[in-house]
Amino acid sequence: MTETATSNPTGPRPRRLTGGDVGIPPRHLDFRLPTEMVRWAYADNATATLFLAMLSAIFPPGEDFFVRSVVHFRDRVREEELRARVAGFTAQEVIHSREHDRLNEAFTARGFPVHVPERAVALALTVLDRTSPRQQLACTALMEHFTAVMAEDILGSDEFARRVHTDIRELWHWHALEELEHKSVTWDVYELIGTDGPERRRAAPLVVATVLPAVLFGWAYLLVQQGVWRRPADLREGYRLLFGPGQFVRRVLRRMPVFGHPRFHPDRHDTRELEARWRETLFGDDGALAGQLRRPLRETQDLSPRDAGPARPTP
Ligand SMILES: [Fe+2]
Ligand SMILES: [Fe+2]
Repeated sequence: MTETATSNPTGPRPRRLTGGDVGIPPRHLDFRLPTEMVRWAYADNATATLFLAMLSAIFPPGEDFFVRSVVHFRDRVREEELRARVAGFTAQEVIHSREHDRLNEAFTARGFPVHVPERAVALALTVLDRTSPRQQLACTALMEHFTAVMAEDILGSDEFARRVHTDIRELWHWHALEELEHKSVTWDVYELIGTDGPERRRAAPLVVATVLPAVLFGWAYLLVQQGVWRRPADLREGYRLLFGPGQFVRRVLRRMPVFGHPRFHPDRHDTRELEARWRETLFGDDGALAGQLRRPLRETQDLSPRDAGPARPTP
């Protein structure tokens, strides 16, 4: 157990560990999105850009689900350091949702009806809400593994940076960094209640049967509504950029089955060096986002996405 202050009975009460103390700091960012955002931000391709818009749209309901499923078992977490990591995880996810809400507003202003994939996934998650809390946590652990693999792929090469326009690129880099920083929190809470039950085997079929159709429907809706379905060359190129041999989605999906391995743990795959490099790139003295950091978030284990304040805080 880690303690941050003296145990001297006459001294100050030991300060509770925070997410920042255990490498999961909530960064209160206030992204400045340009008023005139570029239309096709992913490699100048509509199909791939709408895939990215769909991903952004589903983060707020998805991360709300993740947080709820972990918070349900919070009282089982006795160890001080894990409690702090849960607090850091919760706060980071809340801020992610808020900033994606803002990006989604910008997509909406651009004419993309991103509320459709958002609502489709929110509806799919109501099905998972009806499963047991243990099952929900197993599904969250699986989806957090997915986001961590995706994050490592985004940060691990310059492909994403080359393809995605500067208007929105750093928001994705920041989100990816924090997904890696907290990648093992849900798993460690899940281990407390036991990962050897049937819930783990059921997680993938459940997510595939509920969330995946909502994701595909949401993306297809955007493609039809934007008229991209009538542009076969764009569809072909977008498909190649995302699903072609050796491309982003294939690389990510290839790493998913390890979740079922008996000795799986997110930290078995070491990403600390990558995280340190990106912390410096984004938040070092000359970091790309150092100037966009606001006051630290009030860190609380009771924070829910709706507590994160208005989507556009007044300056
Ligand atoms: Fe997140
Ligand atoms: Fe996450």
